Amino acid sequence: MKNINPTTPFPTSGYFGPLYFCDREKELETILGNIAGGQSTTLVAIRRIGKTGLIKHLQHKISESMICIYTDILPTENSVDFLNSLATAILNSVPEKTSVGVKIWKFIKSLRPVITFDALTGDPNVSFNIQNIESEHQIESLLSFLESQGKRVLFAIDEFQQILNYPEKNVEAWLRKIIQQLKNVVFIFSGSQQHLMYDIFSNPSKPFFRSALFLKLDKIKFGSYQSFIIEKFSENNKKISKETVAEILEWTNIHTYYVQLLCNRVYINSEKSITSETWKNEALKILNEQEYVFFSYRDMLTKQQWNLLKSIAHEGKVFAITSKDFVQKYKLGSPSTVNRSLISLQKKELVYSEYNKNGKLYYSVYDVLFQRWIQNN
Ligand SMILES: Nc1ncnc2c1ncn2[C@@H]1O[C@H](COP(=O)(O)OP(=O)(O)OP(=O)(O)O)[C@@H](O)[C@H]1O
Ligand SMILES: [Mg+2]
Repeated sequence: MKNINPTTPFPTSGYFGPLYFCDREKELETILGNIAGGQSTTLVAIRRIGKTGLIKHLQHKISESMICIYTDILPTENSVDFLNSLATAILNSVPEKTSVGVKIWKFIKSLRPVITFDALTGDPNVSFNIQNIESEHQIESLLSFLESQGKRVLFAIDEFQQILNYPEKNVEAWLRKIIQQLKNVVFIFSGSQQHLMYDIFSNPSKPFFRSALFLKLDKIKFGSYQSFIIEKFSENNKKISKETVAEILEWTNIHTYYVQLLCNRVYINSEKSITSETWKNEALKILNEQEYVFFSYRDMLTKQQWNLLKSIAHEGKVFAITSKDFVQKYKLGSPSTVNRSLISLQKKELVYSEYNKNGKLYYSVYDVLFQRWIQNN
């Protein structure tokens, strides 16, 4: 795990240890409970809420007692890529010098992949030169080898829904079969495309049905984030009031990445005392810098899609998106036009849907900065 310090107490990418990590106590407890019971976890949430951060935090906590492996399979396109990604992750997580490491490296080398080392970081990268149909067997060998190490393993596979894009049709079936036989290896399957994750794990006609326990990651609790932010500023001799932090959290919709980004900028560009004016200035600067991104949204969308995106941004949350009220208020044409545009906007990850506490579905724009920009103009 990284032990270098971030440049501010509010990093906007990567995991820097428990000091820079806010709350998630309940979620941690849930996953630890699952692991203790030998059960895997499916972790789902909208983008930039903190799924990857939570996995890293968890692995940091239990790294003494379990072998912790993490891989993000978003870049993979087929089952050989998947195998390469798993094998690379294993080598990166277990240093060759440790006793388990010696065995694992020897075993992976015996499968005859090409191992190269990153010129900058020195990290190993594994690549098998095999046909797609051979990958099933190699993945089985890899995982059974981990199973036999006499130490429990936590294997986190991030952006797991990516396996649905592999051209081979039966990946889910054989992968499930392999995983089912493992007793010492538990998994975290994480993903941001929630409807795909639900389809993989809660569709009774699919192989992974009920093979893991769902954990839906919500926003960090307002109170915890508020105290955390005040504490981080105060540790660095900067004073910020509860009310000012509340305004920041409100403006960023408590969406983790955006909270971090704004606090990061406020931290860098402030003196000893932080006021409403301080954060509002920073927020405006960010919006100005981002304008070209917002214009690029416009350029990649049809007129209908762009109008719908702006309307959702204006409202913040839209519950009855095809209702007469909403469609007429923003002159969006007909409900069927809205539906068509909505599908595209969701595919492009510009809009997401979520259920509120009462189980009512709503739509919001992903990019909080875009929402605030639209509301300002
Ligand atoms: N509990 C936390 N406390 C402080 N910062 C956090 C926390 N969780 C996440 N972050 C920060 O928020 C940002 C987004 O988190 P992360 O990358 O984990 O989200 P994600 O849900 O995995 O996003 P994506 O779906 O895009 O992969 C990162 O900069 C991360 O450092
Ligand atoms: Mg992530």
